[in-house]
Amino acid sequence: MSTKPFNDNFLKACRGEAHDRVPAWYMRQAGRYQPEYRKIREKYSLFEITHRPEVCAEVTMLPIEQLDVDAAILFADIMTPMPAMGINVEIKSNIGPVIDNPITCKEDVEKLQPLHPSEDVPYILDTIKLLREQLSVPLIGFAGAPFTLASYLIEGGPSRNYYKTKAFMHSNPEAWHLLMDKLGEMTVTYLQAQIHAGAQAVQVFDSWVGALNAQDYRTYVAPVMNRIFSALEKENAPKIMFGVGAGHLLQEWNKLPLDVIGLDWRTSITQARQQGVSRTVQGNLDPGLLLADWPELEKKAKKILDEGMESPGFIFNLGHGVYPQVKVETLQRLTAFIHNYSAKK
Ligand code: CP3
Repeated sequence: MSTKPFNDNFLKACRGEAHDRVPAWYMRQAGRYQPEYRKIREKYSLFEITHRPEVCAEVTMLPIEQLDVDAAILFADIMTPMPAMGINVEIKSNIGPVIDNPITCKEDVEKLQPLHPSEDVPYILDTIKLLREQLSVPLIGFAGAPFTLASYLIEGGPSRNYYKTKAFMHSNPEAWHLLMDKLGEMTVTYLQAQIHAGAQAVQVFDSWVGALNAQDYRTYVAPVMNRIFSALEKENAPKIMFGVGAGHLLQEWNKLPLDVIGLDWRTSITQARQQGVSRTVQGNLDPGLLLADWPELEKKAKKILDEGMESPGFIFNLGHGVYPQVKVETLQRLTAFIHNYSAKK
């Protein structure tokens, strides 16, 4: 049980309410850059960690005290619910998720099973409950978005140009929309279960949707995203959207009923606000800068803070996840800088 007073700066920033200082957390804040994590990984695979609530809670907690971040993100993967839907997935080191039965036709989509969280992923819900007993910062739950999940299911693994996914989408629109429906339903059920177990905010990772142009996004993806966020509106948990290289989709995201827009480093916060983003933004330090000299990193972090703090709806994060090569001390120093600089203003 944590004895610290609860720090709700992150939740207040999500809602655009006044708070003490800019909250910060980092995508992939638990991971291979941490010696403690690498040690745990010597013993367990990624899925073995997530299947053991005590180990999984420990991994989720690692960066909280160490970095002094203002939110925790559940340690899991976007592919965690896939086996229950009938997809055999393996996480390969330095590659990512690999699938041995990729989707090639409508019959494959029809075979996908719905998710029953309390039976299929009870360990995730147990981890969330354990975490809520220990944390003095909010816990973020998450899920992969239908497009990004579909890209793995159709390509069979990571991809550079998503040509199989795009060919499937354009040639089999009926099967594609069925796939979006099934993955969308899973996303809603999974996130609702996480919220009911104790997650206080949720982030939807549509990491690879930037591969689509705005027209195709509107036709093939926006309807399911709308259904997902609308279904979650009755839950008392802010909803965060994130994608990489998706600056050209901001106006589309802006139409969705969500609370926070996550930016990668290619679009500045000012540019996003000029495009009509008036809700909370989260981002967007280039994770490559975590490997640069401190004065350069500080200069860039300061610029992001100056832009972000023009409105109370700002959460500091990276434009994408922490690389394994980053030093723990760099993230410690960055968090301290964000807190000190924003508390003085
Ligand atoms: O701290 C956190 O951010 C929470 C944990 C988390 C993981 N995956 C653990 C993980 C989260 C939020 C994810 C989401 C995820 N997984 C996304 C969306 C976010 C993004 O990065 O765009 C995607 C696309 C995946 C798919 C995936 N899983 C990839 C691309 C990889 C990396 C492969 C590699 O080895 O570099 C994984 C594996 C994975 N998921 C690791 C971690 C910590 C790698 C470390 C390991 O093997 O121990």
